[in-house]
Amino acid sequence: SSEVQVVGPADRVIALAGDDVILPCFLKPSVNAEEMAVEWTRLHLKTRNVHLYRQGRDFDDDQSPSYKGRTSMFNGEQKNGNVSLKLTNVTLSDTGNYTCFLPTLTIQVKETTVQLLVGVIPQPVISIVGTKGWGVVLKCDSGGWFPEPVMEWLDSSGTILPADGPPERHRDSEGLYAVRQHVTVDQTDTNRFTCRVNQQEINHLKETEIHVPDDMFPILTYWWKVGLSIATAAVVVLAASAGVHKWR
Ligand SMILES: *[C@@H]1O[C@H](CO)[C@@H](O)[C@H](O)[C@H]1NC(C)=O
Repeated sequence: SSEVQVVGPADRVIALAGDDVILPCFLKPSVNAEEMAVEWTRLHLKTRNVHLYRQGRDFDDDQSPSYKGRTSMFNGEQKNGNVSLKLTNVTLSDTGNYTCFLPTLTIQVKETTVQLLVGVIPQPVISIVGTKGWGVVLKCDSGGWFPEPVMEWLDSSGTILPADGPPERHRDSEGLYAVRQHVTVDQTDTNRFTCRVNQQEINHLKETEIHVPDDMFPILTYWWKVGLSIATAAVVVLAASAGVHKWR
């Protein structure tokens, strides 16, 4: 039993607000933990518990109110040494370090730390960049994703528009993904365009719509100029014919 280790995940656990997560903790090699005590706590909240398990039962002694009704262990898994914690409906404030402590073990290191990062996906942000040819160039930015999402531009009938190039992407210092994509749109009946960001694995979708004012499109300026020159020409022709008339 001296070789037994309390093992956490190799990497931190990343989730989005509203998700259910598993904070892994298990004994290696697998030892029956059914009769052991397990104390899940927050590192900087040591006086308050996240979840307690003793003699095959869950206890809510001194449980931090913010975790009430959201924690459980996998009953039946403890006998395989699996004392992972399930936390439901995570929020931003659940971000932090959790300790899985097995006080009844006789080994030296009886605990492991699990890092949880909860992200919130803000609404994608659309901006008008300028004009290109007779179209208007739009830009969509969306950050706070994990894993990396797919970004698409659509017109008001739901047709996917070809983007101006491959998406630009980067990972921030927290390990979350930000995506950006440009599109050049032509004038339509509605001038409404949607930027949709989707991550299917985690079943998350965010959309933002923009209405581009008619006068943003160079084509209007163009026809305005054409119209103006036609009018000028007409005035010239009229004046000339009036002159011809008078001269006669
Ligand atoms: C523990 O059990 C849960 C539920 O069966 C499972 O999802 C999880 O992967 C298990 N963890 C380990 C470390 O075996």
